[in-house]
Amino acid sequence: MANLIDGKAIAEQITNEVRAEVGELSKKGIIPGLAVVLVGENPASKVYVRNKQKACEKAGITSIKISYEATVSEKELLEKICELNNKKEVDGILVQLPLPKHIDENKIISAISPLKDVDGFHPENVGKLVLGQKTFLPCTPAGIQQLLIRKEIATAGKHVVVIGRSNIVGKPAAFLFLQKGIGGDATVTIVHSRTKNLAEITKQADILIAAIGVPNFVKAEMVKEEAVVIDVGINRVEIGENESKLVGDVDFENVSKKASFITPVPGGVGPMTIAMLLKNTTEAAKLRV
Ligand code: GUN
Repeated sequence: MANLIDGKAIAEQITNEVRAEVGELSKKGIIPGLAVVLVGENPASKVYVRNKQKACEKAGITSIKISYEATVSEKELLEKICELNNKKEVDGILVQLPLPKHIDENKIISAISPLKDVDGFHPENVGKLVLGQKTFLPCTPAGIQQLLIRKEIATAGKHVVVIGRSNIVGKPAAFLFLQKGIGGDATVTIVHSRTKNLAEITKQADILIAAIGVPNFVKAEMVKEEAVVIDVGINRVEIGENESKLVGDVDFENVSKKASFITPVPGGVGPMTIAMLLKNTTEAAKLRV
């Protein structure tokens, strides 16, 4: 049976570290502030935003929520981002994704000041990540890296296989593990929905990261004995009339019998994403002039 990686506990540890940093900043009169923009009524997005705000409160970070109906125009959103870019007390700006179809996500993300882009999604910050320059790291990949570092699971020379090529997880995760240094130095492969012989590649992974958004996609036959398995999926599945539960992208019951380490869903990667957001927001506050 695999060792469980307790993301909730490690996220709490990071939150405590952030709270201590916020305490130091407050002595200098700086209270880190995060602006969260929520568009529409996506139930998952609403839950994520609520959890992000709760975590801010725990860490002593001020958070403001700006909600719009799904019909809001791109222009109105861009104007709000411009206003937030110019607000001294707002250190971080997070626009919860996905956005409604009529809004160009790339345009919105590019409008956020790179210095306030605590999601690490702005093209300038993505470029810096690829080039190995210091920047805001996307929260989910950074959270996965922290889990591995804090569990003392080495990545150097290991084969990291990432399932999924999203801009939020798959692509940045691959570049993060490729970088030189602690938590990096891995040999990285990305596989995705169009990959041929996907299972043959995932079976070669020392560290397998599942971020494909398909419930129970990763089966035991796709995993090498003693592999480290990181499950990024958060999928709500119906289990009866009016009843649902959260499951990951990994068939936990069977894969956990084969893996050396595995993250649960919930309580694995999810809390780490939020903890890294707190960390990024505090780093952004340090850039205040
Ligand atoms: N939607 C799913 N994950 C994320 C995230 O990390 N940040 C934002 N802004 N939206 C998301």
